Amino acid sequence: MKKISILGSTGSIGKQTLDVVREHKDKFEVIAISANSSVELLLEQIKEFKPKYVAVYNEDAAQKLKTMIPSDINIKVLSGMEGLKTISSLPEIDVLLTAIVGMIGLVPTLEAIKHKKDIALANKETLVCAGKLVMSEAKKNGVKILPVDSEHSAIFQSLNGENYKEIEKIILTASGGPFRGKKKEELLNVTKNEALKHPNWSMGRKISIDSSTLMNKGLEVIEAKWLFDVEVDQIDVVVHPQSIIHSMVQFNDSSVIAQLGCPDMRLPIQYALTYPERLENSFERLDLTKIATLTFEEPDLETFPCLKLAYDTLKMGGTYSAVLNSANEVLVEAFLEDKIGFYDIPKYIKETLDAHDSIENPTLEEILEVDRWTREYVKSLIQ
Ligand SMILES: NC(=O)c1ccc[n+]([C@@H]2O[C@H](COP(=O)([O-])OP(=O)(O)OC[C@H]3O[C@@H](n4cnc5c(N)ncnc54)[C@H](OP(=O)(O)O)[C@@H]3O)[C@@H](O)[C@H]2O)c1
Repeated sequence: MKKISILGSTGSIGKQTLDVVREHKDKFEVIAISANSSVELLLEQIKEFKPKYVAVYNEDAAQKLKTMIPSDINIKVLSGMEGLKTISSLPEIDVLLTAIVGMIGLVPTLEAIKHKKDIALANKETLVCAGKLVMSEAKKNGVKILPVDSEHSAIFQSLNGENYKEIEKIILTASGGPFRGKKKEELLNVTKNEALKHPNWSMGRKISIDSSTLMNKGLEVIEAKWLFDVEVDQIDVVVHPQSIIHSMVQFNDSSVIAQLGCPDMRLPIQYALTYPERLENSFERLDLTKIATLTFEEPDLETFPCLKLAYDTLKMGGTYSAVLNSANEVLVEAFLEDKIGFYDIPKYIKETLDAHDSIENPTLEEILEVDRWTREYVKSLIQ
């Protein structure tokens, strides 16, 4: 029985993780769940999965949840960052599944690593802002970082039994998002509702906007660099609108290995939880004759400058990727609140990067300080 703690159990990935657990009740036990403030859904999850702990980041929501839990349910309710750290490092858990959104996941993830817990990582922002630190801590503590992102899971699966030194290229596939094929002039006035309509995946709001700007792919390029220890010029992005090939690895003998499947996040979630084993399930099977055509295009970096900005920050090194990430978090929120336009996102990110004094090998405290500075700087630009 694998014992799991989930950061962000009420989100898109969190709920799909619980679907996987529901299908394999004899294999997984949920010890802890958490959210920011979705107490009604947490209560439902508590009743169904009977975890021993629940952490609610928002203090008022935590107090509210306490009053909602029936007296016959024995559960510890925690709150704030301390609550997230506690459920990430419980002695009884085997793995922490990080399905929280944003760099808020960094501190609890490092806490789990310090306590030698394996990480099933969906929260890409953690690696984007502190990839070097997180990977070196994981190595030091003998901890596995198992990718949940479908692209990174595909790469991880393509590398099974292979020598990482023989990687020539990683080829990340991208659906292209809702605005694939459009030009900048057509996108100047797009609304959040148009941007939220992803063609292939149903996801949380932040990642859906990131997919529409191609920032999501940029964040994934940075995530891939740290997960697979490759250079930035070894990572290519190819637009593949069908989302059937989830990503590929090209080796030094020119061979390319890919992982394919229907677009369903439960598969990479399950693989991260069962690795190195595979587990039978009821998920839809791929029928290539029905799909018939798989197509590929180059990404359009002029229309989608966020992808280029992400590559640039990797090349510049230091804390530039952390700034890119924090600025993007603030700007996506502002776009979702109708405070800025679609192209203000790359514009203000670029201005913030230009104003930043990078730190070469940042500590956790320095990364958190860079995050604070970035958020304030971006907010001043918006105003
Ligand atoms: N969705 C996908 O298909 C997908 C695919 C690949 C990777 N990812 C990555 O997985 C992560 C989660 O994405 P998602 O789409 O599942 O997001 P989502 O649906 O927005 O869910 C986010 C989760 O994080 C919780 N949360 C947010 N802020 C928090 C805080 N301050 N403290 C504690 N919990 C907090 C939310 O709680 P509340 O419900 O209370 O707000 C919710 O449970 C992201 O990093 C994303 O890039 C997602």
